[in-house]
Amino acid sequence: MKTRMLICVLLTAGVVQVLQAQDFRRQADSVLRLMTLEEKIGQLTQYSNDKKQTGPEIPNPGRVEEIRRGRVGSMLNVVTPERARQYQEEAMKSRLRIPLLFGLDVVHGMRTIFPIPLGEAASFDLDLMRRTAAAAAAEASAHGIHWTFAPMVDISRDARWGRVMEGAGEDTWYGCCVTEARVKGFQGDGYADKRTVLACAKHFAAYGAALAGRDYAETDVSPRTLHEVYLPPFRTAVDAGVATFMHGFNDLNGEPVAASRYLQTELLREQWGFPGFVVSDWGSVEQLVPHRYVHDKKEAAEKALLAGCDMDMCSGAYIRHLEQLVKEGRVSETAIDKAVQRILIKKFELGLFDDPFCYNRRTAELNDEQTLASYRTLAREAGAKSMVLLKNENNTLPLPVTIRRIALVGPLARSQRDMIGNWSAEGRPEETVTIEAGLRTALPTAEITCMEGYDLETNELRELLPLGDFDMIIAVVGERAMESGEAKSKTDITLDQRQQQLVQQLKERSGKPVAVLLMGGRPQVFSGMEPYADAILVTWWPGSEAGNAVADVLTGRYNPSGKLPMTFPRRTGQCPIYYNTKSTGRPYKPNAAWTTGYIDEEPLPAYPFGYGLSYTTFEIGIPRVSKQQYSMTDTVSVRTTVRNTGNRTGKETVQLYLQDVVSSLTRPVRELCGFRQIELRPGEQQEVVFSLTARDLGFRDADGKLIVEPGEFRLFTGPDSAHLQAASFELTE
Ligand code: GLC
Repeated sequence: MKTRMLICVLLTAGVVQVLQAQDFRRQADSVLRLMTLEEKIGQLTQYSNDKKQTGPEIPNPGRVEEIRRGRVGSMLNVVTPERARQYQEEAMKSRLRIPLLFGLDVVHGMRTIFPIPLGEAASFDLDLMRRTAAAAAAEASAHGIHWTFAPMVDISRDARWGRVMEGAGEDTWYGCCVTEARVKGFQGDGYADKRTVLACAKHFAAYGAALAGRDYAETDVSPRTLHEVYLPPFRTAVDAGVATFMHGFNDLNGEPVAASRYLQTELLREQWGFPGFVVSDWGSVEQLVPHRYVHDKKEAAEKALLAGCDMDMCSGAYIRHLEQLVKEGRVSETAIDKAVQRILIKKFELGLFDDPFCYNRRTAELNDEQTLASYRTLAREAGAKSMVLLKNENNTLPLPVTIRRIALVGPLARSQRDMIGNWSAEGRPEETVTIEAGLRTALPTAEITCMEGYDLETNELRELLPLGDFDMIIAVVGERAMESGEAKSKTDITLDQRQQQLVQQLKERSGKPVAVLLMGGRPQVFSGMEPYADAILVTWWPGSEAGNAVADVLTGRYNPSGKLPMTFPRRTGQCPIYYNTKSTGRPYKPNAAWTTGYIDEEPLPAYPFGYGLSYTTFEIGIPRVSKQQYSMTDTVSVRTTVRNTGNRTGKETVQLYLQDVVSSLTRPVRELCGFRQIELRPGEQQEVVFSLTARDLGFRDADGKLIVEPGEFRLFTGPDSAHLQAASFELTE
């Protein structure tokens, strides 16, 4: 009876969804029929608010006249409810009173800033990432924002690319998990309560494969690798119901993705059934000209629109040229109607036609103490859960409760701006808790002496006070907030040598335990300071509650549980470096000649994907499969145990990796296919169970088709991608 009830409920929900979609389409069509061609093209046009640019300066006088004439469909970077209301009131003066859509890069928070996405990905806590996205959406929507240009779902294996900070790291399977969590967080179960926003899967596609990690550089990716590595998170976004897509800046295999009909129409819409709309990236339509792919902006507008890019962000190419292109018969009005319909449907879904100011009704929340406190509590939780403990010799951490005198060295310890990282929307540095402040609050009786150590701007070393009397030295080092993000590629991801020398000096001059906090938006190389650091904690950019989150981890109030979502190389020259690499015909063997590697460095990472320590220790057992042979219709059940072998409650993320031992296309040495985060008390043990279907054992061919081949498979379990134990099984026809 219950099952039948459940099926009825699900069927009803599905039917309601279809009927609703049909109703929005009908409403959109009823508006479309009234529109002039100019008004239609207006809906495809998006401009940035004058006050805030997130791309190269494009001449952009106030847009009020254009809005009144119905020549603008959306604005981005409108960050206050007042400005949003002003622009919307202008739109209500237009002939058809079509409401504007307001978009913003709410990437990891609006005013309350959460850890950067790469940091949150290190938490391996999908529910946390959903919750922070939901909180960001709630805060952004209260500011009048309808639409966030997030999540960024680009897979990247090269830490020289500054935009790794915006994503979920190097692993495709995990990137899909994070994508779903973030889309569901931003969009919730729809927009009825106006606390959710449209999400946007970006940058479609393979932007993270930029040559040599150089932002905006060409991407040359085989069709098979495209389907195997870069497309799956975008497909997951579609399956998760993402409202919009944004294409990238990159030239993919000789075709700028802005003009890729294959990606934006054949794949995205015809194969994946994506119903939403595609927005360009900042000026990417007109950038088809410098790509030397078109002769002029008019041809750029033609190619991008016909490829399936519905909305032109900031280049003005659509509003300037599409009407003429229609008159010349180069673009059909039908093609324009389809793009306009997709955009109008979203405006109906948001309720903007019923009430154009429905996202301006919660301004009271903006400064509501209880609301803000709830966001800050979540930011503090996320900050602590994102941190990754790489080293902890002699149990340097957590700080002993009896600690009296601490030297806190490094200007980042007092920086508020850097704590919220790049792409920090309306984050307010003045509201950010510094590391110094967090530590003083957490250790009221300790004597904390701050020293600059080095100049924040120049990295020049500063004179140190005598260090002998301190119980502990905490060194805060790393890159600045604006050293990662868009257009922030580096040829060298080595931590500034002077900062590394500082850590050495601190150790040699004090002889005391030295704990290093490594801040930044990407994996960094720090082999110079490594021997002098007794403990190393990767904090990323922790957000508004940085100091409290750091203090929670340093004091043991939160036992660190983060795991690296990206490999940390020994040298920049190893980039791109990632765990799921291929065996090659001459696999690496230490001290062996004629094997894959370098003559000046081991090909192994400094710290592998999935790595992270705890203040306790865990033991993960050998994986046990339920039988030795499985058919294609079986479910492979894998069990292992995890035990807390230390003296403190803690969380371990048990990881499951797969190897297809022999296959018709070479497969990675291993691939993450599951993880479980388990909290255990000292001595406690728990069984962990994973289930895999034949689909989970497959791989993609050049057309993206899933291939599952019979044969031997290995399964590995462990605390990271390098320290593993294996079991085998055979998949039969
Ligand atoms: C930028 C970024 C994109 C962002 C957009 C709007 O250039 O590439 O991620 O959403 O412009 O700010």
